[in-house]
Amino acid sequence: MLIFLVGLVALTEPARDDCDCEIPKDFDSSYFGDKFIFGTATSAYQIEGGTGSETGRGPSVWDTFTHETPGTYLRVYIGLRMAKMETWLLISIIDLKNIANVKKMGFKAFRMSISWSRVIPTGSIRDGVNDQGIQFYRNVIKEIKENGLEPFVTIFHWDTPQALEDKYGGFLCRTIVDDYQDYADLLFKEFGENVTYWMTFNEPWALSGFAYDDGIFAPGRCSSWVNRKCRAGNSATEPYIVAHHLLLAHAAAQNQRGQIGITLFTFWFEPLSNRQVDIEASETALDFMFGLWMDPLTYGQYPRRVQNLVGDRLLKFTDNEIKLLKKSYDFIGLQYYTSYYAKPNAYSPWFYIFPKGIRRLLKYTKDTYDNPAIYITENGVDNNNNDTQPVDEALKDQFRINYYRNHTWNVFKSIKEDKVNVTGYFAWSYIDNFEWNIGYTSRFGLYYVDYKDNLKRYAKDSAIWFCQFINCLIPAVCDSLRPEQITQVTSRKLGKYYM
Ligand SMILES: *[C@@H]1O[C@H](CO)[C@@H](O)[C@H](O)[C@H]1NC(C)=O
Ligand SMILES: *[C@@H]1O[C@H](CO)[C@@H](O)[C@H](O)[C@H]1NC(C)=O
Ligand SMILES: *[C@@H]1O[C@H](CO)[C@@H](O)[C@H](O)[C@H]1NC(C)=O
Ligand SMILES: *[C@@H]1O[C@H](CO)[C@@H](O)[C@H](O)[C@H]1NC(C)=O
Repeated sequence: MLIFLVGLVALTEPARDDCDCEIPKDFDSSYFGDKFIFGTATSAYQIEGGTGSETGRGPSVWDTFTHETPGTYLRVYIGLRMAKMETWLLISIIDLKNIANVKKMGFKAFRMSISWSRVIPTGSIRDGVNDQGIQFYRNVIKEIKENGLEPFVTIFHWDTPQALEDKYGGFLCRTIVDDYQDYADLLFKEFGENVTYWMTFNEPWALSGFAYDDGIFAPGRCSSWVNRKCRAGNSATEPYIVAHHLLLAHAAAQNQRGQIGITLFTFWFEPLSNRQVDIEASETALDFMFGLWMDPLTYGQYPRRVQNLVGDRLLKFTDNEIKLLKKSYDFIGLQYYTSYYAKPNAYSPWFYIFPKGIRRLLKYTKDTYDNPAIYITENGVDNNNNDTQPVDEALKDQFRINYYRNHTWNVFKSIKEDKVNVTGYFAWSYIDNFEWNIGYTSRFGLYYVDYKDNLKRYAKDSAIWFCQFINCLIPAVCDSLRPEQITQVTSRKLGKYYM
């Protein structure tokens, strides 16, 4: 996505965000009506352990990547994931308390993903299915349902089976479309009875861009002039090949029973000024990041601006593929974090807080793509993991409350005033977790995880805020979220132990 990156440079000048002081004091979930679904989200690789052979799970490209990449990832990975995370699986999801926490906060839905190589170790169904893996997800889904929550299941959240990577280069090869289709069919057959909402792919842009253009996500491919750490790849062509196969795989996974969607991640690009060149630049950037998916999925072809700039590096769809692609979704999951503008704020280097961006993106999606049904499948903000900070202090996350309040308000305005069909909102994330290329150094959770003390979880202030927001601001309902007294002594003592 090189051209996209060039476009971005012109857009990084900060712009002013006008204040959100109009939010009424009593703003809460009742503004959205009863049918609106508030949920919270996770993904398999970020919260599951159980990567050992005793679970029957095959390795994914992320196992390989985090083991092989020298520097930060390795340190973070070995120090935390390897030492402690093998049991994370049992602690984090199966543990009844965990799903119960989501329910206790008042959420109605829980978004999770399934690890392909846990249910099909080699990725290819001909080689066999891992019954232990199927049983594991059956239990998880049962747990979600028994807590009265609606499961939203992502079929693929970046963890390509390593065996497919070795066999034919994973998403670089067209064969993955068939293997993916078999995998999706298996899930529909095994879990379709209890899962209505399915998402084929999580943020395909991140896979084609971060993994094949910048080389910072597994399998870490790119041109050496983009990132010297890459040993192989081609940033000019591979992102488009991968994108093409992701789109075809999405179209191949059709489930008759439930609702099917895809989640797309995009920044909002605010034109620097109202001059035509700036407007054009922002539309081009949106086309490269968002239209690259939305146009084929809605209209069966790549956006014209992308076609003009990328030329024949873009693969062609056949007539039959076009037919399959057009309107190949029941809903679109939008994942919004940030816009290009406003002041640097959160921990991750790409993060600039701009709540109005979510409203602009929603309106744009409605107008450009024929008013689809939309869920906000991710929205949230992180901060850095501070090793010396006492736990009680780390739970005070007013900045996160501000973020959620301002963003849910803008979602509300887009429903109310712009008549966008948004039917649900998922906070990212339920719990602090493994944040991909920056490991455990970033914390996105409503729940805090104490990595130094048996992965104990504590409701952050934002969890209590969300609970009150959902339960119509009745504070007593949320008292039970933080039963334990958190003492400074515990955390200070443990603060000494760290890599
Ligand atoms: C679906 O849920 C019901 C009720 O919890 C359970 O009896 C059934 O076994 C579940 N089906 C599958 C395929 O997990
Ligand atoms: C909005 O989307 C929902 C599905 O999430 C659908 O049932 C409903 O008909 C849509 N409403 C409009 C006005 O398009
Ligand atoms: C980490 O937390 C400690 C204790 O509150 C504080 O003194 C320190 O400045 C923090 N470090 C960073 C990098 O935020
Ligand atoms: C968000 O909300 C807080 C308090 O509600 C406010 O002070 C802040 O200016 C808002 N805007 C942004 C961009 O965070």
